[in-house]
Amino acid sequence: MRFKNVWTQARIVKITDVAANVRLFELEPETGIQPYSAGAHIDVTVLINGLPEIRSYSLVGTYAPVGGRYYIGVKRLPASRGGSTYMWSLVPGARLTISQPKNQFQLTFGRPYYTLLAGGIGITPIYGMALELAQKGADFRLLYAGSSRCEMPFLDDLGANLGQRLSVFTSDEGRRVNVTEVVSSIEAGTQLYVCGPLSMLDGVRHAWQARGLPVGDLRYESFAASGQFAATEFQVTIPRLGKKVKVGANQTMLDALALAGVDVMSDCQIGECGLCVVDVLAHSGVVDHRDVFFSDQQKAENKKMCACVSRIASGDVVIDTAYRGASFTQ
Ligand code: FES
Repeated sequence: MRFKNVWTQARIVKITDVAANVRLFELEPETGIQPYSAGAHIDVTVLINGLPEIRSYSLVGTYAPVGGRYYIGVKRLPASRGGSTYMWSLVPGARLTISQPKNQFQLTFGRPYYTLLAGGIGITPIYGMALELAQKGADFRLLYAGSSRCEMPFLDDLGANLGQRLSVFTSDEGRRVNVTEVVSSIEAGTQLYVCGPLSMLDGVRHAWQARGLPVGDLRYESFAASGQFAATEFQVTIPRLGKKVKVGANQTMLDALALAGVDVMSDCQIGECGLCVVDVLAHSGVVDHRDVFFSDQQKAENKKMCACVSRIASGDVVIDTAYRGASFTQ
């Protein structure tokens, strides 16, 4: 159960390989494109095992009404739950059901200085932010980290547009971004925008908290990332409903519960909003918290978990769901 979207049909006009394992899809919606700002995303209906599921993809670049297209970048993930595999199976001319743009990762203009930090495919929302800040003549820098240059999309374009404001970090060249140093170098009044894997976000959040910087000046967006443990099958028991549900290795708890007819509210489905939180009544093994919603202390307590991303490693879990169905009539 997700907050309502306004859906439309879109045709894939063009697919371009923009880096190793990253494809740029150009989508032409039947109803035309809606205005959006950098950091926005659309939801896309994908088919996994023949069943529709929703995946969110950042809109790449800045709004351009003339072209009438949305651009999304999709990385083929070996540990994909099926979304990227489905997208990569599509060819130009294929049709998709997509939502209107939404933005929960919006730039606030008027700050004296900005730092943008992107890890891997996390560049997709950050790319448009960098272009918008450059167009507005804002003072900013972009730190872009990846495993190797060939896997990092938009590098040439960013280099041409940003010049010295772009710093590239690549593991295979022995140059890794140190997020603690990044946060240490933040000057008062700076806003930091981060999109990358969970480990990057956690590192930034810890360093930010340790420096006592204003909470509102750190903006981040995560993408489905691997947790501390490999994803394996586990069982969820919901005593109140008398149900036992298997969660497959390539499935989220949220999806498995939905398939079993257990209603759990959700929205972001990337571990940020906390809407899908379930109560953990008991568990064996380890709760592999993969969200950025709970604090470290809350994660250590293991009393709740985000069903959209978090899992159980080497064990099972007994839960109750916050959603109790409609408790009123009209
Ligand atoms: S739906 Fe937002 S944290 Fe799970």
